[in-house]
Amino acid sequence: MKLINIIKPDDWHLHLREGQILESVLPATVKSFRRAIVMPNLIPPVTDVEMAMTYRQDILNACPGECDFEALMTLYLTDNTSPADVKAAADSPYVHAFKLYPAGATTNSASGVTSLPDLMPTLEAMVEHQVPLLVHGEVTDPDVDVFDREAVFIDHVLSPILQALPGLRVVFEHLTSRQGVEFVMDAGPNVAATLTAHHLYMNRNAMFSKGIRPHHYCLPVLKRETHREALVAAAISGNSKFFLGTDSAPHDRAAKESSCGCAGMYASPVALELYTQIFEDNDVLDKLEGFASLFGPKFYGLPVNKEQVTLKRQEWQVPSVIPAGTEEIVPLCAGETLRWQLI
Ligand code: DOR
Ligand code: ZN
Repeated sequence: MKLINIIKPDDWHLHLREGQILESVLPATVKSFRRAIVMPNLIPPVTDVEMAMTYRQDILNACPGECDFEALMTLYLTDNTSPADVKAAADSPYVHAFKLYPAGATTNSASGVTSLPDLMPTLEAMVEHQVPLLVHGEVTDPDVDVFDREAVFIDHVLSPILQALPGLRVVFEHLTSRQGVEFVMDAGPNVAATLTAHHLYMNRNAMFSKGIRPHHYCLPVLKRETHREALVAAAISGNSKFFLGTDSAPHDRAAKESSCGCAGMYASPVALELYTQIFEDNDVLDKLEGFASLFGPKFYGLPVNKEQVTLKRQEWQVPSVIPAGTEEIVPLCAGETLRWQLI
């Protein structure tokens, strides 16, 4: 029976939600990950340190049993975020970054940024205080093809901002395209990226396999196979600019299976196992620990975890649904058999 031990990973991009969903999804994260960068796209969004502290306490209260999970909080960048807000975030030991949602780009992004260049003084404060900007890298122009929105964002938004502010620390979240991989590789050491398990595992055909598959819809949307291959190459390269971020984004089943279904895949219950499978498929299990447990802390300037986890090569079947109070959530890979199991 094959076993692998790695330092307990962190999830550098996670949606935990609130209330019943938070309580239902947190155990899966705590099992696989010691820390997580928690996304602030609640309603209303988490826009200041005080709100982040309240949300952090809610997360701690929802933690099961003897839980040593650490929630690394982020603030939601709006058109009104000021340099003083950046200073307050930098002074808080609990807040680690700002998250940029272009207004209208995705779930709960209505309060997002309408014009990034107009936030120049705020971005300059992020450079001064070395607070990372976590980027949802898509333009929102409805005339731009949905599969091209990441590449257009790089050319029209991110490149000009980094040219103006070469010292800005950026994490390009949930990278989905070859152009994104090339951009991050060519940028300085201040630019990194997270990669989800689902964008490494599936291409866009998964959304249309024998019918429309709402549980395979997320944003940025899955891309064609050549892009998936570029993402896998980046993940297994050993380049420390690329690290693990699940973008686990739970929604009630009814909100997904709808005439206008929400974007987001609930990845936490399978993510670590799926990453392991992908690294095994590419004969690079020795590179998993760097990607999952070392490169993220290096970028964020945080200590590497002391704990270890063990994965066993043993098949298991992913449940078809996960109960969440009176609702249920369909996890990524629902009903599929995976090869690695966390023990
Ligand atoms: O698919 C997504 N779901 N992409 C995002 O950017 C947000 C997330 C969510 O919050 O549901
Ligand atoms: Zn996300």
